[in-house]
Formats: sequence, structure tokens, C-alpha cells
Amino acid sequence: MSPTKTEKIRKHYDSVADTYDTHYDHHRGKKYHTHLSNHLMKALPKGGKLLDIGCGTGLFVEKYIHNGGSGTGIDISGKMVARAQRRCESCDFVVGTGEKLPFADNSFTAISSVLVFSYVKDPKSMLSEVFRVLEPGGQVALCTLGKKLITRGIPSLYKIGEKIKIKHVVMKDFGEHYYDENEMQDLFEGAGFSDINVKWCSFAHIDMIDPIFDFATKVEPFVEKRVPQLAYNIFVSAKKD
Ligand SMILES: C[S@@+](CC[C@H](N)C(=O)[O-])C[C@H]1O[C@@H](n2cnc3c(N)ncnc32)[C@H](O)[C@@H]1O
Repeated sequence: MSPTKTEKIRKHYDSVADTYDTHYDHHRGKKYHTHLSNHLMKALPKGGKLLDIGCGTGLFVEKYIHNGGSGTGIDISGKMVARAQRRCESCDFVVGTGEKLPFADNSFTAISSVLVFSYVKDPKSMLSEVFRVLEPGGQVALCTLGKKLITRGIPSLYKIGEKIKIKHVVMKDFGEHYYDENEMQDLFEGAGFSDINVKWCSFAHIDMIDPIFDFATKVEPFVEKRVPQLAYNIFVSAKKD
């Protein structure tokens, strides 16, 4: 992804910052986001020092600090960061990229990233930065759209959406990269992590109509456990020894 693509992502999220929560913090979007967040919450230490990369409007930071701990967020979009700061006044939010974290070594006990990794231009740099700023014994957990038969058509859909000027919170041609299990395993191993767990999650999609979404929500636990080929987000958790 060229620097222009990153700039396009930043501009896009600046432009949707005021409406983002109507998509991911209401109705189906809230259920979808909560479902993904719960996977991360289970993998991260409770009440720790959290860094959320690509924090957006602070939805995950808010969930994490609900039961104690502290939260810091970083995002390339200044407008998203401003929203996050309003949501979680006691937390710290900065504008910046996940590929070059402005934090000291060993600063956090938990690092999260929700629906961001597919945008990141240099995933190796991001993971080496995550490893650097995580304390020994700390945990990272992330979730992003994965490489699957059902996600293969998404970039073309986004391209068409952009051409016909559909107004959608995420539907734009950003040159996203989707990963499979082996690629994730290699990336995390290469960055030095241990206890790497890669799995598939989610089945109910935010853009489904209500009755189908409700049905998909009901069968989601079964799909994730027994037919993960139908789940479309890839989840990774890992530890720094
Ligand atoms: C789909 S939103 C997800 C926001 C938030 N994590 C959530 O779950 O609601 C993607 C976010 O990633 C941010 N982003 C994209 N690339 C990034 C990068 N390289 N470093 C930091 N943030 C990035 C965008 O600005 C946007 O806020």
C-alpha cells in the first residue's frame, strides 16, 4: 500500500468520524463489534495497561477499562482520536501509526487492535513495534477480516461502492490486505511472539438484514466452533515471554 493509500484511509476516517458510531455502536453494528471485542477481552489480561492500535472512536478502550485498568489509544485519524478522547476522558489518545509507536519499550501489559490490521502498510513493522512496547509476559490480541473465499470479493465490492459513490463507513478502495492462518502465524512468530493462537470468528454480518442477522447471531457459536470456514474475521492472540 503506498503512502497515498494511507493518506486516503486517514482522510476517509476523518470524514466519517462523526457518523462512525451510528454504524458500529448501534443496533447490529454494536452486537457485531461487541462480539469481536469479547474474543479479544477473553485473551487479554484484565485490569492491565492497554494500548489499542487503530482505536477509532475508542469503542474497545471503553470496554476494556470498564472493569479497571488504564487505556491508551493511537490512530492515524485525528478526528477519530478526538472522538475517542471525548468517549474516554480518563484515557490517553494520540495521533500516529501502528507501524511506529511513540511509546517506550515495555510500556503496556495488553495490546489490542480491532478491524485495523488489513489496512496496515507494513505489518512486520507494526508487530515488531507491538513486541517492543509490550512488557515481558504481556499479551496482544487482534481481529481483522481474513483471507477466505467469502471475503475474496470484498475489495471489488468496495471498488464498485467507491465508483458509484456509496456512502458507507468502511466501503472504499483502500487496497486492504487479508491474511490467512499461516501468514498470521509466520508474522507473529517472526516478530518473536510465543503462545500464538490463530482462529476464525464472526458469522453475523452488520450489513445483513435483521431477520438474517438474528439467525446468523444464533448459529454463530456453532459456526465458530464447528464450521470456521464460514467465519470471516481472523483472530490472533500471542504472548511476549
Ligand atoms: C474500521 S476502523 C476500526 C476502529 C476501531 N478499532 C473500532 O473497532 O471501532 C479502522 C481504524 O483504523 C485506523 N487506522 C488505519 N490504518 C492505521 C494505522 N496504520 N495505524 C493506526 N491506525 C490506523 C483508521 O483511522 C480507523 O480509525
